[in-house]
Amino acid sequence: MFQADGVKITVLVENQVDMLLPDQASPLGTDDHCVTRWGLVEHFDNKYLPPQAENGISFLIEAWRGRHTTRVLFDVGLTGTVLRHNMGVFGIDPNSIDHVAISHGHPDHFGGIHGFFDMVDRKIPVATHRDAELARYAMMGDGRMSSVYNSAFTFEQIERSGGVPVVTESSLDLGWGIHTTGEIERNVPFEAAAPPFVPGNPGLYQVGHDGKLRRDEVMDENGLVIDVKDVGLIVLTGCAHAGVVNTIKQSHKIVGEKPVRAVMGGFHLGFPTTPAENVGLTVDALKELDVQTIMPMHCSGNRTHAHLAHDDHYVQPAVGTVLHFGTAQP
Ligand SMILES: [Fe+2]
Repeated sequence: MFQADGVKITVLVENQVDMLLPDQASPLGTDDHCVTRWGLVEHFDNKYLPPQAENGISFLIEAWRGRHTTRVLFDVGLTGTVLRHNMGVFGIDPNSIDHVAISHGHPDHFGGIHGFFDMVDRKIPVATHRDAELARYAMMGDGRMSSVYNSAFTFEQIERSGGVPVVTESSLDLGWGIHTTGEIERNVPFEAAAPPFVPGNPGLYQVGHDGKLRRDEVMDENGLVIDVKDVGLIVLTGCAHAGVVNTIKQSHKIVGEKPVRAVMGGFHLGFPTTPAENVGLTVDALKELDVQTIMPMHCSGNRTHAHLAHDDHYVQPAVGTVLHFGTAQP
């Protein structure tokens, strides 16, 4: 299994833009330049359009070994219009993407898939899980029912748009140290707890492969792990329906029990149904794992940001943030 010499992660879509955030050096004092921002200078420069935010996630991961780089798009945001706009702002060529990986079949993660393929003129593999296209809807607390919100994400539609679906529950090696986690085992008690399924109660619903209605446990959720030589593991989550700590533990099963240098993505702690104490429990678990860089994004919730606000290891997320680990980009 290869390791990356280095990796650059660019936040293409996130819930927030903020031109006033500072660059941050590595908390380890290492000479890799850990966090840079699309800041005030860029926002005020009329050469650039300002980047946009939306309620979703998309990362560009560029990992290299020697002269060779692989580029992975992890999730594609909610609409595709923001992804297209931001890729233009940051000067990213959509045709340079080698793989797309979709964390799970919720619209804030897959929604930009067809818009993305509108911009490319070649076939690109799309890693996904077989449950991602099962019909899903939500029952709200006030009795309202959503539409089937993932009807635009069938493997057939992806193929028609120009993608090549790679449907698996297993981990995929995407090259130079980048792996999908595959389906994530849920062993951490506070992340696994779920009340019994009662049809008609508020929550997420899914029609199973057997045609029966069930609670949508989002079993399709995959994370991404990047194994960087002399640095450790960088773990990315989409929404972390499977739990951030479970995602890290799954990453360890894929690439070995190496130190976790950074974790970033949706932490699933801002959901109204996630117990408030899970914020502290998650942060304690990350501290125990000695995670050096923690960037909660998207669905992580204000409680999580408040909890970590004065922590040296915390990175406030924003569109245009770039994190760099390991050797310089070739
Ligand atoms: Fe999400």
